[in-house]
Amino acid sequence: MQVSGEMNKKKIVILGTGGTIAGTAAQAGDNLGYTAAQVGIGQLVAALPALGDSHHALLSEQVAQVDSKDMDFDIWCRLAQRVAHWLAQDEVQGIVITHGTDTLEETAFFLQAVLDPAKPVVLTCAMRPATALAPDGPQNMLDAVATASHAGARGVVVVCAGVVHSAVDVQKVHTYRLDAFSSGDAGALGRVEEGRLRLFRNWPSAHVGHGLGAIESIASGAGASAWPRVDIVLNYAGADGRAVRALVADGVQGLVVAGTGNGTLHHALEAALLQAQAAGVRVVRATRCLEGRVLPRAGDTLADSLGLSPVKARVALMLDLLASPGQARDV
Ligand code: SIN
Repeated sequence: MQVSGEMNKKKIVILGTGGTIAGTAAQAGDNLGYTAAQVGIGQLVAALPALGDSHHALLSEQVAQVDSKDMDFDIWCRLAQRVAHWLAQDEVQGIVITHGTDTLEETAFFLQAVLDPAKPVVLTCAMRPATALAPDGPQNMLDAVATASHAGARGVVVVCAGVVHSAVDVQKVHTYRLDAFSSGDAGALGRVEEGRLRLFRNWPSAHVGHGLGAIESIASGAGASAWPRVDIVLNYAGADGRAVRALVADGVQGLVVAGTGNGTLHHALEAALLQAQAAGVRVVRATRCLEGRVLPRAGDTLADSLGLSPVKARVALMLDLLASPGQARDV
């Protein structure tokens, strides 16, 4: 852990988990051929003297160092525990987490669902490595600290390219653009302009609200193998349900289906999912559309995802199964 700033100020804790924001390339101009998760969080903070202008003392801690495509349950547990630990300290104003962009929305939603924090937890990232000629990480870090410093801030949010998104709505929508995230129909929560947050709507509050208890027992017990098995399947032309039958045979406990349009399914895929559901597998229907939500209709036989994207519906279903294991079939 590293500390900078005066000790009697309130603290912002910056937790590092890796990502492109901590990535390096052999050549400064290379924004693609880099390796993520190379630079330590202490070094990233030290390289940004403007962070010292914050009215808060800064602490940094390396929780993980991964390319977020490799994010896993162990890191999620450790991260949730470290966030909970720091938030419990009176002198801590808020948390900033540096994270890769690729699974950032899943981690953000997981933390919101498990912690529903009364203080701000701000995830930030970069689309260009730290060695880029014009890296975006430093400005994102400054904006994230400004957001975490904002009086009244609470809940888990994401800050990227000057835009603040709620953990519930945020989605990565672009492979390359610096402004790679969108909050879809809900719109951004706010914008950071010259170090000041302009807020458009309310901070996120409990979405699932499961509490840390269930995952702490996993962290201290069986580890990753104790997580309920939940997979995602997709509807497309010719989807025939074979993938569903294979997953059921393999012991899956929950399935999220990314349907077409308003959660519609090829009749063969729907039949396989109904069969899985009858066998005790929890099935949730989301949409593969980037915007909009599945609107329930009378007579629906598969529950919809309550507006969650497929990857977030999967996290919610895993937490549900964890909280009420009796609902899962015996495997
Ligand atoms: C990652 O998700 O860790 C790599 C990609 C990125 O951060 O943009």
